[in-house]
Amino acid sequence: MEYILDTADIKAIKHCNEFYPLSGVTTNPSIIAKENRNFWDIVKEIRDIIGPDKTFFAQTVQKTADKIVEEAVLMNEKSGGDFCVKIPICEEGLKATMELKKLGIKVLMTAIFTPAQALIAAKAGADYVAPYVNRLDNIIGDGCEVVAQIVEQFAIYDLPCKVLAASFKNAEQVHKCALSGCQCVTVTDDVLKAVITHPMTDAAIGGFEKDWQNVYGEKTILDF
Ligand code: E4P
Repeated sequence: MEYILDTADIKAIKHCNEFYPLSGVTTNPSIIAKENRNFWDIVKEIRDIIGPDKTFFAQTVQKTADKIVEEAVLMNEKSGGDFCVKIPICEEGLKATMELKKLGIKVLMTAIFTPAQALIAAKAGADYVAPYVNRLDNIIGDGCEVVAQIVEQFAIYDLPCKVLAASFKNAEQVHKCALSGCQCVTVTDDVLKAVITHPMTDAAIGGFEKDWQNVYGEKTILDF
Protein backbone atom coordinates (compact mmCIF):
# COMPACT_ATOMS: atom_id res chain seq x y z
CA MET A 1 0.00 0.00 0.00
CA GLU A 2 1.41 3.39 -1.00
CA TYR A 3 0.49 6.58 0.85
CA ILE A 4 0.45 9.73 -1.26
CA LEU A 5 -0.22 13.28 -0.06
CA ASP A 6 -3.10 15.11 -1.75
CA THR A 7 -2.15 18.78 -1.45
CA ALA A 8 0.01 21.59 -2.82
CA ASP A 9 0.39 23.19 0.61
CA ILE A 10 4.17 23.43 1.00
CA LYS A 11 4.09 23.42 4.81
CA ALA A 12 1.96 20.24 4.88
CA ILE A 13 4.18 18.55 2.26
CA LYS A 14 7.36 19.40 4.23
CA HIS A 15 5.85 18.04 7.41
CA CYS A 16 4.35 14.84 5.99
CA ASN A 17 7.38 14.06 3.82
CA GLU A 18 9.51 14.14 6.98
CA PHE A 19 7.23 12.14 9.26
CA TYR A 20 5.35 9.67 7.01
CA PRO A 21 6.41 7.01 4.49
CA LEU A 22 5.11 8.86 1.43
CA SER A 23 5.43 7.69 -2.19
CA GLY A 24 4.55 11.04 -3.71
CA VAL A 25 2.26 14.06 -3.96
CA THR A 26 -0.95 14.44 -5.96
CA THR A 27 -2.51 17.71 -7.07
CA ASN A 28 -5.47 18.73 -9.18
CA PRO A 29 -6.54 22.11 -10.63
CA SER A 30 -8.60 22.95 -7.51
CA ILE A 31 -5.68 22.11 -5.20
CA ILE A 32 -3.26 24.24 -7.28
CA ALA A 33 -5.74 27.13 -7.57
CA LYS A 34 -6.07 27.22 -3.77
CA GLU A 35 -2.38 28.23 -3.64
CA ASN A 36 -2.95 31.02 -6.23
CA ARG A 37 0.75 31.18 -7.20
CA ASN A 38 2.81 30.49 -10.32
CA PHE A 39 2.28 26.84 -11.31
CA TRP A 40 5.98 26.13 -12.02
CA ASP A 41 7.06 27.68 -8.70
CA ILE A 42 4.72 25.26 -6.91
CA VAL A 43 6.03 22.30 -8.93
CA LYS A 44 9.66 23.24 -8.16
CA GLU A 45 9.02 23.68 -4.44
CA ILE A 46 7.22 20.34 -4.20
CA ARG A 47 10.02 18.60 -6.11
CA ASP A 48 12.71 20.18 -3.92
CA ILE A 49 10.98 18.70 -0.88
CA ILE A 50 10.14 15.20 -2.16
CA GLY A 51 13.27 14.65 -4.28
CA PRO A 52 13.45 13.09 -7.75
CA ASP A 53 12.37 9.53 -6.88
CA LYS A 54 8.94 10.13 -5.36
CA THR A 55 6.14 10.63 -7.87
CA PHE A 56 4.64 14.05 -8.48
CA PHE A 57 1.14 13.97 -10.01
CA ALA A 58 -0.28 17.04 -11.78
CA GLN A 59 -3.47 17.28 -13.79
CA THR A 60 -3.82 18.60 -17.31
CA VAL A 61 -6.19 21.53 -17.81
CA GLN A 62 -6.50 20.89 -21.55
CA LYS A 63 -9.59 19.49 -23.27
CA THR A 64 -8.36 17.98 -26.55
CA ALA A 65 -6.08 14.95 -26.90
CA ASP A 66 -3.36 16.85 -28.80
CA LYS A 67 -3.20 19.62 -26.20
CA ILE A 68 -3.36 17.15 -23.29
CA VAL A 69 -0.35 15.33 -24.78
CA GLU A 70 1.51 18.62 -25.31
CA GLU A 71 0.86 19.74 -21.72
CA ALA A 72 1.77 16.33 -20.30
CA VAL A 73 5.07 16.25 -22.22
CA LEU A 74 5.95 19.73 -20.92
CA MET A 75 5.06 18.88 -17.30
CA ASN A 76 7.00 15.61 -17.57
CA GLU A 77 10.09 17.49 -18.85
CA LYS A 78 9.90 20.26 -16.26
CA SER A 79 8.82 18.26 -13.21
CA GLY A 80 12.41 17.40 -12.27
CA GLY A 81 11.84 13.75 -11.41
CA ASP A 82 9.33 10.91 -11.45
CA PHE A 83 6.12 12.33 -12.90
CA CYS A 84 2.61 11.15 -13.69
CA VAL A 85 0.03 13.22 -15.56
CA LYS A 86 -3.56 13.12 -14.30
CA ILE A 87 -6.20 13.09 -17.03
CA PRO A 88 -9.95 13.11 -16.31
CA ILE A 89 -11.72 10.23 -18.07
CA CYS A 90 -13.40 11.26 -21.36
CA GLU A 91 -12.89 10.36 -25.04
CA GLU A 92 -10.13 12.95 -25.59
CA GLY A 93 -8.48 11.77 -22.37
CA LEU A 94 -8.46 8.14 -23.48
CA LYS A 95 -6.95 9.09 -26.84
CA ALA A 96 -4.28 11.17 -25.06
CA THR A 97 -3.54 8.26 -22.70
CA MET A 98 -2.87 5.90 -25.60
CA GLU A 99 -0.55 8.50 -27.19
CA LEU A 100 1.29 9.20 -23.95
CA LYS A 101 1.95 5.50 -23.40
CA LYS A 102 3.80 5.44 -26.73
CA LEU A 103 5.92 8.34 -25.42
CA GLY A 104 6.61 6.50 -22.15
CA ILE A 105 4.83 9.08 -19.96
CA LYS A 106 2.92 7.81 -16.94
CA VAL A 107 -0.83 8.46 -16.82
CA LEU A 108 -3.31 8.49 -13.96
CA MET A 109 -6.90 8.51 -15.21
CA THR A 110 -8.87 10.55 -12.71
CA ALA A 111 -12.46 11.49 -11.80
CA ILE A 112 -13.38 7.81 -11.82
CA PHE A 113 -16.77 6.98 -10.29
CA THR A 114 -17.56 3.50 -11.70
CA PRO A 115 -15.68 0.21 -12.20
CA ALA A 116 -16.62 0.34 -15.90
CA GLN A 117 -14.79 3.66 -16.33
CA ALA A 118 -11.77 2.24 -14.53
CA LEU A 119 -11.64 -0.86 -16.74
CA ILE A 120 -11.59 1.08 -19.98
CA ALA A 121 -8.96 3.49 -18.58
CA ALA A 122 -6.75 0.52 -17.73
CA LYS A 123 -7.27 -0.96 -21.20
CA ALA A 124 -6.16 2.38 -22.72
CA GLY A 125 -2.89 1.95 -20.81
CA ALA A 126 -3.37 4.13 -17.73
CA ASP A 127 -0.80 3.33 -15.04
CA TYR A 128 -3.24 4.37 -12.31
CA VAL A 129 -6.95 5.03 -11.91
CA ALA A 130 -8.27 7.34 -9.20
CA PRO A 131 -11.77 6.51 -7.93
CA TYR A 132 -13.24 9.27 -5.71
CA VAL A 133 -14.35 7.61 -2.49
CA ASN A 134 -15.81 10.45 -0.43
CA ARG A 135 -17.56 12.14 -3.35
CA LEU A 136 -19.43 8.83 -3.91
CA ASP A 137 -20.20 8.47 -0.20
CA ASN A 138 -21.55 12.04 -0.22
CA ILE A 139 -24.27 11.06 -2.71
CA ILE A 140 -25.14 7.92 -0.73
CA GLY A 141 -22.98 5.76 -2.99
CA ASP A 142 -20.42 3.33 -1.60
CA GLY A 143 -16.97 4.62 -2.56
CA CYS A 144 -15.05 1.80 -0.88
CA GLU A 145 -17.20 -0.82 -2.63
CA VAL A 146 -16.45 0.82 -6.01
CA VAL A 147 -12.72 0.66 -5.16
CA ALA A 148 -13.08 -3.04 -4.21
CA GLN A 149 -14.83 -3.83 -7.49
CA ILE A 150 -12.12 -2.06 -9.50
CA VAL A 151 -9.41 -4.04 -7.68
CA GLU A 152 -11.35 -7.26 -8.40
CA GLN A 153 -11.78 -6.43 -12.09
CA PHE A 154 -8.08 -5.67 -12.59
CA ALA A 155 -7.22 -8.99 -10.94
CA ILE A 156 -9.71 -10.92 -13.14
CA TYR A 157 -8.25 -9.42 -16.31
CA ASP A 158 -4.67 -9.40 -15.02
CA LEU A 159 -4.27 -5.67 -15.72
CA PRO A 160 -1.14 -3.94 -14.36
CA CYS A 161 -3.00 -0.65 -13.69
CA LYS A 162 -2.79 0.43 -10.02
CA VAL A 163 -5.83 1.59 -8.09
CA LEU A 164 -5.00 4.93 -6.45
CA ALA A 165 -8.06 5.63 -4.35
CA ALA A 166 -8.70 9.36 -3.81
CA SER A 167 -11.09 11.80 -2.14
CA PHE A 168 -11.01 10.68 1.49
CA LYS A 169 -12.51 12.43 4.47
CA ASN A 170 -11.73 9.93 7.24
CA ALA A 171 -9.53 7.05 8.37
CA GLU A 172 -12.34 4.48 8.14
CA GLN A 173 -12.59 5.00 4.37
CA VAL A 174 -8.82 4.52 4.07
CA HIS A 175 -8.97 1.34 6.15
CA LYS A 176 -11.79 -0.17 4.05
CA CYS A 177 -9.92 0.60 0.82
CA ALA A 178 -6.74 -0.97 2.23
CA LEU A 179 -8.70 -4.16 2.99
CA SER A 180 -9.92 -4.28 -0.61
CA GLY A 181 -6.29 -4.45 -1.79
CA CYS A 182 -6.02 -1.11 -3.57
CA GLN A 183 -2.36 -0.29 -4.23
CA CYS A 184 -2.35 3.40 -3.23
CA VAL A 185 -4.37 6.02 -1.39
CA THR A 186 -3.96 9.77 -1.72
CA VAL A 187 -4.98 11.67 1.39
CA THR A 188 -4.70 15.09 3.03
CA ASP A 189 -2.42 15.68 6.00
CA ASP A 190 -5.50 15.66 8.31
CA VAL A 191 -6.58 12.22 7.14
CA LEU A 192 -3.00 10.93 7.39
CA LYS A 193 -2.87 12.13 11.01
CA ALA A 194 -6.27 10.50 11.70
CA VAL A 195 -4.92 7.17 10.37
CA ILE A 196 -2.24 7.02 13.10
CA THR A 197 -4.32 8.52 15.90
CA HIS A 198 -6.15 6.47 18.56
CA PRO A 199 -7.20 7.56 22.08
CA MET A 200 -6.00 4.20 23.49
CA THR A 201 -2.57 4.86 21.97
CA ASP A 202 -2.44 8.29 23.65
CA ALA A 203 -3.45 6.67 26.97
CA ALA A 204 -0.81 3.93 26.60
CA ILE A 205 1.96 6.45 25.86
CA GLY A 206 0.84 8.59 28.81
CA GLY A 207 0.96 5.55 31.12
CA PHE A 208 4.50 4.58 30.02
CA GLU A 209 5.73 8.14 30.67
CA LYS A 210 4.11 8.33 34.11
CA ASP A 211 5.45 4.92 35.30
CA TRP A 212 8.98 5.73 34.07
CA GLN A 213 9.07 9.20 35.62
CA ASN A 214 7.77 7.88 38.97
CA VAL A 215 10.95 5.81 39.27
CA TYR A 216 13.60 7.56 37.14
CA GLY A 217 12.35 11.15 37.01
CA GLU A 218 13.61 13.04 33.95
CA LYS A 219 16.49 10.55 33.36
CA THR A 220 16.36 8.79 29.96
CA ILE A 221 18.06 5.59 28.75
CA LEU A 222 20.78 7.81 27.25
CA ASP A 223 21.63 9.00 30.78
CA PHE A 224 22.36 5.57 32.33
C1 E4P B 1 -7.07 13.23 -6.27
O1 E4P B 1 -6.65 12.63 -7.22
C2 E4P B 1 -8.39 13.89 -6.31
O2 E4P B 1 -8.32 14.94 -7.19
C3 E4P B 1 -8.78 14.35 -4.94
O3 E4P B 1 -8.46 13.34 -3.98
C4 E4P B 1 -10.23 14.75 -4.81
O4 E4P B 1 -10.49 15.00 -3.45
P1 E4P B 1 -11.78 15.82 -2.97
O5 E4P B 1 -12.98 15.01 -3.30
O6 E4P B 1 -11.58 15.98 -1.50
O7 E4P B 1 -11.75 17.13 -3.70
